[in-house]
Amino acid sequence: MAQVERWGTRMGLVLAVAGNAVGLGNFLRFPAQAAQNGGGAFLLPYLVAFVLMGIPLLWVEWAIGRHGGQFGHHSTPGMFDKLGPFRWLKYVGVFGLFTTLCIASYYVYIESWALAYVFHSLIGTFREIAPTAFFNQFVGAESESIYYFPGEAILWFVLTLGLNIYILSRGLVKGIEMAAKIGVPLLVLFGIILAIRGLTLPADAAGIVQSPLAGLNFVWEPNLGGLANPKTWLAAAGQVFFTLSVGMGSIHCYAAYLRQRDDIAVNAMAAGWTNECIEIVLGSAILIPIATAYLGLAAVQQATSSGSGFALGFLTLPTLFNNWGWFGPFAGALWFGLLFFAGITSSLAMGQPMMSFLQDEYDWSRVKSAIGFGVATLLLGLFCVVLFPGGAFDEFDFWTGTFALVVFALGEAIIFAWIFGMDRAWDEITRGADMKVPKLFRFVLRYVTPTFLLLVFFGSLINPEGGNWGTAVASLLSGSGWPLAADSVAGKIFHVGSDYSWFDAAGNPTRDLVVDGTRLLLVLVFLGCSFLVYKAWKKKRVSA
Ligand code: ALA
Repeated sequence: MAQVERWGTRMGLVLAVAGNAVGLGNFLRFPAQAAQNGGGAFLLPYLVAFVLMGIPLLWVEWAIGRHGGQFGHHSTPGMFDKLGPFRWLKYVGVFGLFTTLCIASYYVYIESWALAYVFHSLIGTFREIAPTAFFNQFVGAESESIYYFPGEAILWFVLTLGLNIYILSRGLVKGIEMAAKIGVPLLVLFGIILAIRGLTLPADAAGIVQSPLAGLNFVWEPNLGGLANPKTWLAAAGQVFFTLSVGMGSIHCYAAYLRQRDDIAVNAMAAGWTNECIEIVLGSAILIPIATAYLGLAAVQQATSSGSGFALGFLTLPTLFNNWGWFGPFAGALWFGLLFFAGITSSLAMGQPMMSFLQDEYDWSRVKSAIGFGVATLLLGLFCVVLFPGGAFDEFDFWTGTFALVVFALGEAIIFAWIFGMDRAWDEITRGADMKVPKLFRFVLRYVTPTFLLLVFFGSLINPEGGNWGTAVASLLSGSGWPLAADSVAGKIFHVGSDYSWFDAAGNPTRDLVVDGTRLLLVLVFLGCSFLVYKAWKKKRVSA
C-alpha cells in the first residue's frame, strides 16, 4: 500500500477544505439562484437549509472520512464498506467516485474558460469583439449542429486539466495545500477589489441606470416570502449541496487524511462558515450589483434565467468592464482570475478521491493515479466539450452536479445515523472535538436531516411546472393529473415538453439523441466505477 499522507498544518487543511467549497458556485451559481428566487426571499431558506442540512452533512462526511482513513481507505467505497456488515455498502460509496469524476469533467472546462478569459481580458479582446459573439464562437453555443470542435477552448481545457494533474501528482502538502494557500487568499483579494470598485460606481457614470447598492439590497434584504415557497426551498437546498461540495465524495476524502483524534467538529464548521461568508458577502457583492447598476434588476433576472450565472459572468460582465476605462482589462483579469482560483481549488478536491481509490485499492503510485484520473477526465470532458451544443454539458451538470448529490447525501445520512448507528456516529463526530457539539444535533442528524433530504429528493423528482405546488395539487385532485416540470427528474426522464425524437425530419441527429447518449454514458461510467470496486474487493478476498 502507498505510504499514507497527512495534511501539513491545520491552516493548510482548513484552506484546502475551504478552497474545495469556495468555487464557481459561490460567484456564478449563488448570485444567479438568488436573482431567480427573489433575492432576500432566497436567503432565509438558504440559511435554514445550511444549518439543518449543510452543517450536519459536513459533520457526517468528515466523520465517515476520518473513520475510513484509519482502515487505509481514503475514498468512499472503502469507507462505506466499514460502516456496516453489508456488502452493498461499498457500492453506495461508488457515488463518491462517479460524482467527483463526472463533475470534474465539465467543471474543469468552465475553469478553463476562466483562464482563457484572463488572457483575453488582458490582451483587450473584449474591446474588439463583443463578449457574447466571442463566447458563442468559443464554445459553439449557437451551433446549428449537435456538435462543435472548439479548437481554442480545447487547448485551454487540456492546459487547465494538465495543471490540475500536475498539482495532484505533487501530493497533499506540496500540491493541494500549496494551491489552496495561494489560491484562496488571492481570490478573496481579487473579490474585495472588484466589490469595492463595483459598489462605489458613481451614480452619474456613463451607462449607470441604478445604484449598485440596489442589487446588493435585493439579495440581502430579508424577505419571509420564500419560506412558504417549495420552489425556493428546492433551489436553496440545491445551492447548499453544490456550494459546500456535500454529497460529492471530496470532503470524505480530505477528512480521511486526518489522524483519529484530530478535531473534525470545528474544522468542518470553520470550512463551512468560511464558504458561507465568502458566498453571501463577496458572492453577492460583485455580479449582481455591477450588472444591476448598468442594466437594472429586471435585465439581471432575465440573464440569470438558466440559474447558472454563465451569461452574466461570461457575457455581461466583460461587456460592462469596457465602461471602466484603463481599469477594464484588469477588472476582467481579476474577475476571471478569481473564478479560476475558486475553480481550481475545487476541482483538485474532485480529482483526489479517484486518485486515492487507485492508490489505496490498486496500489498505483501517486503519479500514475493522477494520470489515470486525468485521462478519464479528459475523455469525459471532451464528450461535454464537443457535444456542448447538443446539451451533453447540461446533462452532466444536472445528473451529476445536482441530482446525484441529493441521492448520495440521502444515502449517507441514513447509513451513518441508522446503520453505523447514532451512538457510534456521535462518538465519531465528537472525538477530539475542539468545541462542544450541541446535543440537539443528535436529534437533527437522526431525524431532521434525513427527513429534509427525503423532501428535497421527492421534491426534485416530481417538481411541478413553474414550481407551483398549490396549483399542481389542485390539478391532481380535480383529476387532471400532475403537471410535471420539464426540469424535474421525472420530467427529464420522460422528456416532458419535447417532441421527443432522435432524428429530425431531414434525418439529422437531434438534442434528444445527445441527451439519451449522455445518460447512457453516465450509467456506463457508474457501472465502470462499480466494476473497479468489485474487482478490487475480489482481489482482497483472494489475497486474504
Ligand atoms: N463547491 C464547489 C463550488 O461551489 C463545487 O463550485
